[in-house]
Amino acid sequence: MAAGVRTMVEGVSSVQAGEQARVRIGVVGCGGRAGAHLRALQRHPEAEIVAVADVAESAAAKAGEALGVPHYTDHRALLARDDLDAVWISVPVFAHGALELAVIERGLPFFVEKPVARDLETALRISAALDRAGLWAAAGYQLRYGEGVRRARAYVAGRTVALVEGHYWSGTGRHGGWVADFDRGGGQLVEQATHTVDLMRYIAGEVAEVYARQTTRVLREITAPDTYTVSLRFSSGALGTLSASWVHDPDDWAHANVLHFGLDGCLVRIAGQAAELLPASAGALPEVESIPGLHGAFLAAVRDRAALPGVLSPYRDAVATLAVSLAANASAAMGRPVSPLSSA
Ligand SMILES: NC(=O)c1ccc[n+]([C@@H]2O[C@H](COP(=O)([O-])OP(=O)(O)OC[C@H]3O[C@@H](n4cnc5c(N)ncnc54)[C@H](O)[C@@H]3O)[C@@H](O)[C@H]2O)c1
Repeated sequence: MAAGVRTMVEGVSSVQAGEQARVRIGVVGCGGRAGAHLRALQRHPEAEIVAVADVAESAAAKAGEALGVPHYTDHRALLARDDLDAVWISVPVFAHGALELAVIERGLPFFVEKPVARDLETALRISAALDRAGLWAAAGYQLRYGEGVRRARAYVAGRTVALVEGHYWSGTGRHGGWVADFDRGGGQLVEQATHTVDLMRYIAGEVAEVYARQTTRVLREITAPDTYTVSLRFSSGALGTLSASWVHDPDDWAHANVLHFGLDGCLVRIAGQAAELLPASAGALPEVESIPGLHGAFLAAVRDRAALPGVLSPYRDAVATLAVSLAANASAAMGRPVSPLSSA
């Protein structure tokens, strides 16, 4: 079929590009993080960005003009288009809720950046609306797709985990803005170390209880704490410890999202994209099959109308990760252990 010819396949329209149907995407949120998504989607042979939206006219116009597509300042105008197969959402933590519910109302699957909301009630409302509509959504925990993480997960599966250690030390809070504002961003555990929490859950299973402390020692100008420690108890019985701090050098990312899984006689270490089994005499992590990355997995799921198993971070699962961070925030505020499972 000639490029650019629209077809209706079982009620879902798509644009044919040679042999391959391209998934037509509307992008909502054109800020810092969206830049990488727009580039990845633009060069992906299975994607076509048809329109963009951002509440900031300048951000919407810049992205729309760069891509040569219409731009809007209201997501409802974008959703009124009749040529969308899916929506790609990359808005700040505080901006979730009505947006996702409108996408669901429009009957479209969506991708949404992590964390999926600032509060659990909003996330659960969206999750329930997805279920009611028979729709699915993918969250932006892109580290799950990395080969090192998947090799680590394959090794740990079926083995007894005694201890999980993770830390996320960065200088991000120094940049201020909504990220460093507790009410809008939720603090480092919600906005940033959520990646560490998510990998803990992805590899070691559910977290049954957290007991957290928070302090501000250096960044007194921001409204979020600059340092956290969290003690975790996993449903398996394993124990965990997580530390997060924003007082670090903002140019040093070597201590951001580093995890250790303590097993019988060895440990698995994840740092950035790399994973290793230590000591070397313990052998090697297993090989894993190559899979599409975050963008490819989403596009394939839209095309095939099946989120699983390609989408490694489904919305409901991302809600459970959010629940752990929020439980840690609550624990730090109340000074007692909190169960994330009681509310997720
Ligand atoms: N996965 C990752 O590794 C990663 C990395 C950085 C940021 N993020 C996440 O991406 C999301 C966006 O972060 P960012 O750094 O791009 O923030 P940003 O402030 O740079 O950009 C956000 C954009 O969204 C727009 N916006 C706000 N409310 C909106 C609404 N209701 N509708 C449409 N547009 C709206 C803003 O005008 C802004 O242009 C956050 O959830 C953040 O945590 C993820």
